[in-house]
Amino acid sequence: MKNRLTFALMATFFCSTIAMAQVQKLPAPAKSGGKSIIEALWNRSSGTEFSDKMLNDQDLSNLLFAAIGVNRPSENKLTSPTARNLQEIRLFVFTEKGVFEYLNKENSLKLFAKGDYRALIADRQEWVKSAPVSLLIVADESKFGSSDIRVKVAVGNDAGIVSENVNLFCAGTGLVTRTRMTMDVPAIKKLLNLSESETPLLNNPVGYPVTSKK
Ligand SMILES: Cc1cc2nc3c(=O)[nH]c(=O)nc-3n(C[C@H](O)[C@H](O)[C@H](O)COP(=O)(O)O)c2cc1C
Repeated sequence: MKNRLTFALMATFFCSTIAMAQVQKLPAPAKSGGKSIIEALWNRSSGTEFSDKMLNDQDLSNLLFAAIGVNRPSENKLTSPTARNLQEIRLFVFTEKGVFEYLNKENSLKLFAKGDYRALIADRQEWVKSAPVSLLIVADESKFGSSDIRVKVAVGNDAGIVSENVNLFCAGTGLVTRTRMTMDVPAIKKLLNLSESETPLLNNPVGYPVTSKK
């Protein structure tokens, strides 16, 4: 009896350890769909109201691809340009279930922390917590080998480009989003174990519109 109990406890421990280390493969990003880029530009606006319905895996994959996906695998280049092609942006996905990092080369999500940490993204803007997904854009200045003012401008620009890719993708596919710089930076840095050179710069809460039938 005691042995069985020990075995059950060990099995539970190993299962939860495996779950924490989980890497989830995403469906391949779509190669067509959505509105034209001209229509997306006419549609683009920042929203604050989201359906609480979680994004389906295909929409999530397409969204992450739009942000920093690899669109030219033979050259290892991305949907969003970066200064000197240093690709210093890391993208994290906050959901009710946990915090994940988007691994663009593998098109997968790596679990970082279990649990709902969307309040750290919301900070004082409560409505952000109603978005099923919040994307966090982090820049790693160490890739530039210095941190002078031009580097700070470059990472700010690169983060802005990623966020605008997200804005246009959402405008073109009927999702709601908003570029934001409000967030609890110290708490996020601690949660994600970010180094001195890694800074959370922007975030985009994302969801279906409240009236959505998707
Ligand atoms: C760099 C940047 C930071 C922003 N930060 C916030 C923010 O912290 N909270 C917020 O509610 N909106 C934020 N916004 C959204 C702006 O308020 C919004 O884009 C502006 O009101 C114009 O509205 P529109 O996007 O619908 O054209 C930010 C926008 C940008 C570009």
